Amino acid sequence: GIPEPENRVDFYPHQFSGGQRQRVMIAMAIALKPDILIADEPTTALDVSVQAQILDLLRDLQRETGMALIMITHDLEVAASMADRIIVMNGGKVVETGIAKDVFSNPQHAYTRRLISALPHGNAAEAPNKRSTTIAGEILLKVEHLTKHYVLASGAFTSKRTFKAVDDINFEVRRGETLGIVGESGSGKSSVARMLLGLNEPSAGKAVFAGENIFEMNGKRLMAFRRKVQMVFQDPYGSMNPRMRVYSIISEPWVIHRDILPKNRWKTRVAELLELVGLLPEHAGRYPHQFSGGQRQRIAIARALASEPELIVCDEAVSALDVSIQAQVIDLLADLRTRLSLSYIFITHDLPIVRHFADRIMVMKDGRIVEEGQTSALFGAPRHEYTQSLLQAVPRPKWLTQA
Ligand SMILES: Nc1ncnc2c1ncn2[C@@H]1O[C@H](COP(=O)(O)OP(=O)(O)OP(=O)(O)O)[C@@H](O)[C@H]1O
Ligand SMILES: [Mg+2]
Repeated sequence: GIPEPENRVDFYPHQFSGGQRQRVMIAMAIALKPDILIADEPTTALDVSVQAQILDLLRDLQRETGMALIMITHDLEVAASMADRIIVMNGGKVVETGIAKDVFSNPQHAYTRRLISALPHGNAAEAPNKRSTTIAGEILLKVEHLTKHYVLASGAFTSKRTFKAVDDINFEVRRGETLGIVGESGSGKSSVARMLLGLNEPSAGKAVFAGENIFEMNGKRLMAFRRKVQMVFQDPYGSMNPRMRVYSIISEPWVIHRDILPKNRWKTRVAELLELVGLLPEHAGRYPHQFSGGQRQRIAIARALASEPELIVCDEAVSALDVSIQAQVIDLLADLRTRLSLSYIFITHDLPIVRHFADRIMVMKDGRIVEEGQTSALFGAPRHEYTQSLLQAVPRPKWLTQA
């Protein structure tokens, strides 16, 4: 499902979007025609439509080759749609095992029950949510004509070609507001985030934050901006120095911005932040590789909070977490939003989560905004065809779809 495959076989991994990288990995694994395929969160970074495509592919392969599949996932809907049998793990132990249908319809263990009840999904559409109640704040960020072209082939004989990853988009974020950005894999979501954080140069356009164009800032202004706007990445492992302990990772902003916190308070504050994201104070002494993916994601959130930002850009920040922790982290983010008037740009392929958390939603496709609106209006009556198809692509339990 990757566009322009002929041109892209020569790409380096960083030239793919997060979801595209994932699909390259799956293609590599499948090419070997294995007897058993162990897939560890294979569709976590993918939007629902691509996810459905991959899951179909895996199912077809199974039918044709009789391949066994061990599917490790925190996504209960994916598990339900793929598995014949389910094993539920918690704290390193198997707490429940059984036929998928039985486990879902009649969970025995308290943890399983908690997982199933924490599902933000289902028909309870306009059920209680974590959106802000009032968004009357001033405009914090105003993005105008933001554009990103990547240069593709530029070999000796091939002419230079460009690819429009982000194509002239406009939007704004108010103080205390959460803007959700959804869209299929490769639609340009991470590219927008990376430009706003100054990690990628825009090809055109501007982004005004608190009255100043981000792309023209330098020196002191840029330092101040870097403190006020934080990002939680899709792949937190790539953004953490593997040789730094968690303590140093979280306290790094205080080294750079001396006025945030006096040094004698660092230790307590690191412990507080770890507890805030559901980890333990003693985790401060460990290295990033000693954590699970979801735990690393929470460390990244703790670090983002350490610099006391005004805007946090979350790129698939909770996608790798299991639903009960997801709910916990969303609650935490929502609580901070109210207490500190934080704003969020919340990028995700998980529609139930943005529905629960975002005040306003922007739908991207091929680098453009195809639809935008208040969350309840957008989910209630999606206008664009692509938005409608996204809403319909949620996986269904295997036991309901099998003859
Ligand atoms: N450095 C690069 N060089 C060339 N193309 C790139 C580069 N980085 C990203 N792209 C392309 O730009 C497009 C948008 O990528 P982006 O990472 O913004 O997508 P995304 O919406 O975040 O997708 P996902 O949901 O999979 O994370 C993709 O087609 C990607 O392959
Ligand atoms: Mg991305």
